[in-house]
Amino acid sequence: MLEISGDIEKAAYFIKQGKLVIFPTETVYGLGASSWNESACLKIYEVKGRPKDNPFIIHVGRIEDIFELAFVNPRYENFILNFSPGPISFILPKRKKKLFSSGLSTIGIRVPSFRKTQEFLKLAGPVSAPSANLSGKPSITKINYLIETFQNTVDFLLLGDEPEIGIESTVVDLSKDIPVLLRPGKISSQEIKKFLHNLEIPSKLENLTPLSPGVKYKHYAPDCIVKWYEGESLSLLENSYLGFSNIPSAYSIQVKDNLDYMKNLYSFFIESDKRGIKIAYCDKPISDGFAEGIVNRVEKAIAK
Ligand code: TXA
Ligand code: MG
Repeated sequence: MLEISGDIEKAAYFIKQGKLVIFPTETVYGLGASSWNESACLKIYEVKGRPKDNPFIIHVGRIEDIFELAFVNPRYENFILNFSPGPISFILPKRKKKLFSSGLSTIGIRVPSFRKTQEFLKLAGPVSAPSANLSGKPSITKINYLIETFQNTVDFLLLGDEPEIGIESTVVDLSKDIPVLLRPGKISSQEIKKFLHNLEIPSKLENLTPLSPGVKYKHYAPDCIVKWYEGESLSLLENSYLGFSNIPSAYSIQVKDNLDYMKNLYSFFIESDKRGIKIAYCDKPISDGFAEGIVNRVEKAIAK
């Protein structure tokens, strides 16, 4: 049974007891277990139906924790300090043998920016967490979807602010000679390049030999068909629309800019499925620094 509360001490106690806790972050909700507890971490795979070779991101409450749990090449220090806490995860060689890492010698690690979540993480210790959703489904940004999905399989839901970004963190691999962008997010490759001039950006992330184990799996995809909106008539009752215009459709969300678009994207997918929509149309985003993350997620949903 899912216990729902805003009590960070209780949430940390659940983590220490080897239980699963859903917690809010600025990107999407996470489904976490203690990174020191292998059997608790393995339960996450069961609950999500996630392939066992897809590693989790370790969430910590302080920037110092990154340096304590992972080896950081001094040339990446400024980069990490500049973007943390924030919606970005770093792949780094792991320093502590006992840290759960799905058998890998590297870990993904990040400091979420929500203060309350940081306080929870300081009490709970490192928390390994993928996004809180069933494997292959869109990540969740709203509490009612969490309850529907996990009420019988997760122990605790920590209440706090709802995610404000709406798509998952940017993932940068800093464990190799050259830094590689594994997943774009609100923080774009352009911004990262100001710090890491030699950042490698795989042209089509999903077509490459998987760099990040998670990249090879169907991701972020609703059951309905997803298409870019190219001016089709949507008056057909079965279709939905997310974009900048006011288009008559069975279900639509009108957004004012790319950040608003990002924030609404996954709820749009989830609501379209709930309403039995056949095709969910997504406008092309405005061309700015936030378009990269949006295009990546919509194209993954189209390609499923
Ligand atoms: O915003 C986010 O990143 C959210 C919140 C909860 O923090 N988490 C999230 O986790 O999206 P997840 O598991 O859905 O995505 C993490 C991605 C996966 O593609 C995974 O393969 C990759 O990060 N990853 C984690 N550890 C890795 C490692 N050691 N090497 C390569 N990729 C790794
Ligand atoms: Mg995920």
